[in-house]
Amino acid sequence: MTTATDAAVAQAAALLLRARSGIAFTGAGISVESGIPHFRGQGGLWTKFDPYKVAHIDTFRKDPAQYWTYSLNHRRTDAEPNRAHRALVDLERRGQLRAVITQNTDGLHQKAGSGHVVELHGSSHEVVCLDCDARFPREQVDRMNREHCPPSCPACGGRFLKPTVVLFGEALPVRALRDAQTLAMAADVVLIVGSSLQVYPAAGIPRLAREHGAELCIINAEPTAFDHLAAVAIHGKAGEILPQVVRRITRS
Ligand code: APR
Repeated sequence: MTTATDAAVAQAAALLLRARSGIAFTGAGISVESGIPHFRGQGGLWTKFDPYKVAHIDTFRKDPAQYWTYSLNHRRTDAEPNRAHRALVDLERRGQLRAVITQNTDGLHQKAGSGHVVELHGSSHEVVCLDCDARFPREQVDRMNREHCPPSCPACGGRFLKPTVVLFGEALPVRALRDAQTLAMAADVVLIVGSSLQVYPAAGIPRLAREHGAELCIINAEPTAFDHLAAVAIHGKAGEILPQVVRRITRS
C-alpha cells in the first residue's frame, strides 16, 4: 500500500531527478538528529531561552561573559553528521545539487563531505576579536574560556572575542549572501530541509528562487511558512525522509 509519504517521496525524487541547477537550503532541523537542538516549534531552544539574552549582538557587547558562559554549558563539540547530511552529499555527487546554502553554523555539511557550502549565518568554528579583527580557531578560545570566562584576545587583550556566527541585530556576511542570491536566481529546484523559514533575510533566499521560477521541495518535521508555495512538502524527520528520496532516485 502506498502511503501519502511514499507518494510525496516519489514526487520529491522526480523533481530532483529533473533538476539541472538544484540547490539545498537547510536549517537547524537537519542537525537535530546529530544532537544539536533547533530553535522554534516543539522543543525549540527559544521556548526555553530568550534569544535576545543569549544570541543578540547588543547583549553580547554589554556582557560577553553571558554568551561565553552559555557556550561553556551548552556547546556540543562532538556532534557528527547524520544520514540527512550524508544524503545531501550523495545528491551533490550525483549532480542533483550544485550547493548547500545553510543557516547552520555547526559545520556538519562540510564534515559530511558537501563540496560547496554557503554559510549564511557564519560559523561557530572561528572566533574574531571585535577590537583588532584577529581570528582564532574555536578550539583555542574554548580552551581559554574554560580557564577564564570570558576569554580575552591573545593579540590585543580585548574582551570582545566572538564566534563568527551572525547574532540577532547583525548583518549577514556580504559574500555569502551574494553567493546565495546568485545560486537562488539560477536554481530550478530548491530542496529545503529542517527550517521553519521564519528568519529573514535568510528565508528570502528560497523565496527569491521561487520568484525566479524554481520549484520548492520542503522536508520539515512541522508545517513551515512556505508550504503553500511548495511543489511538495513532507512533514517528517530529515534523517528518515532524505535517504528514502535518494534511494528512490538511485533506483530510477
Ligand atoms: N528533521 C526535520 N525537521 C526537523 C527535525 C528533524 N529531525 N527536528 C526539528 N525539525 C524542524 C522543526 O520543526 C522546525 O520547524 O526544523 C525546523 C527548524 O526551524 P528553526 O528552529 O526555526 O531553525 P531555523 O529555521 O534554522 O532558524 C533560522 O534562526 O535562531 C536563528 O540563527 C538562528 O539560523 C537560525 C535561524
